[in-house]
Amino acid sequence: MERRGSLYGVAAAAAVVVVVAMAAAAGGEAARLSPEHYRSTCPGVESVVRSVVARKVKETFVTVPATLRLFFHDCFVEGCDASVMIASRGNDAEKDSPDNLSLAGDGFDTVVRAKAAVEKKCPGVVSCADILAIAARDVVAMSSGPRWTVELGRLDGLVSKSGGVAGKLPGPDMRVKDLAAIFAKNNLTVLDMVALSGAHTVGFAHCTRFAGRLYGRVGGGVDPSYDPAYARQLMAACPRDVAPTIAVNMDPITPAAFDNAYYANLAGGLGLFTSDQELYTDAASRPAVTGFAKNQTLFFEAFKEAMVKLGRVGVKSGKHGEIRRDCTAFN
Ligand code: HEM
Ligand SMILES: *[C@@H]1O[C@H](CO)[C@@H](O)[C@H](O)[C@H]1NC(C)=O
Ligand SMILES: *[C@@H]1O[C@H](CO)[C@@H](O)[C@H](O)[C@H]1NC(C)=O
Ligand SMILES: *[C@@H]1O[C@H](CO)[C@@H](O)[C@H](O)[C@H]1NC(C)=O
Repeated sequence: MERRGSLYGVAAAAAVVVVVAMAAAAGGEAARLSPEHYRSTCPGVESVVRSVVARKVKETFVTVPATLRLFFHDCFVEGCDASVMIASRGNDAEKDSPDNLSLAGDGFDTVVRAKAAVEKKCPGVVSCADILAIAARDVVAMSSGPRWTVELGRLDGLVSKSGGVAGKLPGPDMRVKDLAAIFAKNNLTVLDMVALSGAHTVGFAHCTRFAGRLYGRVGGGVDPSYDPAYARQLMAACPRDVAPTIAVNMDPITPAAFDNAYYANLAGGLGLFTSDQELYTDAASRPAVTGFAKNQTLFFEAFKEAMVKLGRVGVKSGKHGEIRRDCTAFN
């Protein structure tokens, strides 16, 4: 896994966890989130999570992208309710969906470890959904990105189905109109979407996710929106019959820093996916891209705001949720 620090390397095989899954009614009513939610019941929760996350990031940088992406996927499917954490006996939970886009095991591991540490301090009080929200904030802050105040008070969901994933997550071949429609369903604007896509300043993508831009295009040739030198690099890292485990850095310039290089990359034809590059091509999103490329503070402010909004998506309360004892299984 450490080999993923260069332009290309070998991605880790996902660990398979086997637990029982069950289904129940989804929640609709709005929950009240607050940064003070655990002030009397678990005042130390944020520092407990932070020290677990810091240890894990030190072990492997992959923790940063893996945890950030896990939070995004959780929120866009069934809301931010840790439904993505559920492991199933029949391989039919959310994380088993073909659309889980190969979520890296280090994100799951981070939440499981943080939950264990939190349970020692305040048993049965803090949801896995909140722990994931705190951890996603912490990994960004720990990779020289911005830090924001996390709203808390989510319950863990009672539903996790692989069949529920299709159509809810954006795909790498999508264009701005379709991407924006998916984000709008989650109460996120085009500006939020451009800011959140800046998460692709860290982490890895498997060759299979963008090979269509390099090979087998109608009419032949490489996607002309790639910078030619970048396309050559990608073809060297990802030859036609490359193993499905091979991955490349999504930000080829500063892969280990949470910065605004992603946006300058897009202006230079270094957008790895169509969904990245199109943010620059499309007039609806281009002003945000150029603004963030010029001014990192502007990007950080927008990213913080968008992450808080992302954390409000589909939050569960009352009978629609629970505080899970084990993040990977319903109580
Ligand atoms: C705009 C629509 C988006 C699309 C189409 C998209 C698609 C993808 C794809 C295909 C990968 C590569 C997965 C792999 O091959 O292993 C990826 C990786 C990643 N995505 Fe996105 N994504 C989007 C938005 C986001 C958002 C909003 C976030 C978080 C706020 C995010 C965070 C990440 C991270 C951190 C990685 C690297 C994961 C790792 O290294 O383990 N993405 N994304
Ligand atoms: C994601 O889905 C694929 C295909 O269904 C599956 O093989 C893989 O184990 C899943 N990843 C995780 C982390 O569960
Ligand atoms: C960058 O953006 C920040 C935040 O909006 C703003 O305060 C600052 O003036 C901008 N800097 C420049 C050089 O435009
Ligand atoms: C979007 O916001 C509306 C109004 O606050 C809310 O009723 C709805 O549940 C939100 N949608 C999601 C997916 O969170």
